[in-house]
Amino acid sequence: MDFEEVVQTRRSVHEYSDESIDDATLERIFELATLAPSGYNLQPWEFLALRDDDQKAALQAVANDQEHVTGADTTVVVLGNTDPMAHANSVFDDWLAKDYLPSEDVKNAVLGNVEAMAEMPEDDRRVWSTRSTALAAMSVMYAAWNEGVASCPMEGFDADGLVEAFDIPDGYEPVMLITLGYPADETADIENERKERRPVDEVLHIDEFNPTDDTVVADD
Ligand SMILES: Cc1cc2nc3c(=O)[nH]c(=O)nc-3n(C[C@H](O)[C@H](O)[C@H](O)COP(=O)(O)O)c2cc1C
Repeated sequence: MDFEEVVQTRRSVHEYSDESIDDATLERIFELATLAPSGYNLQPWEFLALRDDDQKAALQAVANDQEHVTGADTTVVVLGNTDPMAHANSVFDDWLAKDYLPSEDVKNAVLGNVEAMAEMPEDDRRVWSTRSTALAAMSVMYAAWNEGVASCPMEGFDADGLVEAFDIPDGYEPVMLITLGYPADETADIENERKERRPVDEVLHIDEFNPTDDTVVADD
């Protein structure tokens, strides 16, 4: 598929076939998805891919009992590391080796910036991590669909329950879930008329921000 076809035909799919995603395809999806951009290339994302039935059932129990969590071949818990320093040293060593940074001194200055980010309040670091991790999550869905593997992103889950059920250590933000699997009916979801999108002339603001959302409440 070319990129436009991937984007035009992707749908959030709830009904999956029993066909398993082979390991090479799953790996290919994540190889492409992890080419997503991230702040300072710090790549805060982690993916817990649940393929075992009991594991998926445990996830469904903390995901509002949404049935596609177990109906999909693989359901992925997308996690964001909230520590900007987690991978900073190796990332900037790579930048230095590839001349993205001119010297060790500049590398240390950049590291200093990231160390300062690591001192941000936890809520700010959660937002920081979610920005980049959400881009990787979208990339997973496009890369998957390019392989014929459908997906559904999900925010309907109990984050505390998920952290407890899967022993997620402190410092990781559960950003979203993604179901992955071959669609039960290869064409049904795709041939459904696309759910309406707000028109571009409503959402694109050139030079001046003038939202038409009448639910915006002015501050007192
Ligand atoms: C952040 C986010 C959270 C979502 N949460 C859920 C969810 O919990 N369960 C679900 O079935 N779909 C969920 N969706 C899927 C949306 O309902 C779907 O993307 C939207 O209706 C547009 O349909 P489309 O993806 O087929 O274009 C979520 C989508 C996003 C981006």
